[in-house]
Amino acid sequence: MKERIEKVLVTEDEIRTRVAELGADITRDYAGKDLVLVGILKGSVVFMADLMRQIRMPLTIDFISVSSYGNKTSSDGTITLLKDLAVDIRGRDVLIVEDIVDTGSTLYHLQRLLAHRGAASVEIATLLSKPERRKVDVAVRYVGFEVPDEFVVGYGLDFNEHDRHWPFVGVLKPECYQS
Ligand code: IMP
Ligand code: MG
Repeated sequence: MKERIEKVLVTEDEIRTRVAELGADITRDYAGKDLVLVGILKGSVVFMADLMRQIRMPLTIDFISVSSYGNKTSSDGTITLLKDLAVDIRGRDVLIVEDIVDTGSTLYHLQRLLAHRGAASVEIATLLSKPERRKVDVAVRYVGFEVPDEFVVGYGLDFNEHDRHWPFVGVLKPECYQS
């Protein structure tokens, strides 16, 4: 992987420390609630796996898949579900787990959709946020790290389905984008 890396933006140690803090915050905020973590496939899987183990209370997990980057909104402005939830979220406290909030469009639509299904609450936890890129004003309750407007990979995030397995978040060398 070293050959592909231009620079590391968030190290493995920084991620571990921050994910533990987020887990502690969520444990405190959701005490006594019926928590359902909803991971957005595939980018959230690494964050989801680490975050859930830092939440010290009963919880349920599920995954949802929405149309991919670039064509995630259909003509009527709603998202296309590629894989729906298996659990019923009515009356439950949903926490959407995402890899990165970019324009905010995906989460804005997903939050509305899940709220419409009768969840008691629908909040968002994201590992990364790119505030400079925001187009839709979406309320994100838990943010791991703010990153600059650069394309990042690793810890679940991909470039053309590669580089998700890196244990850190980094930026690719320019030559990786050629061909
Ligand atoms: P949004 O709807 O514009 O906020 O898009 C969010 C989605 O775009 C994320 O879930 C990622 O899948 C993808 N994305 C945005 N920025 C990056 C990036 O820097 N690296 C990898 N994927 C990204
Ligand atoms: Mg994603």
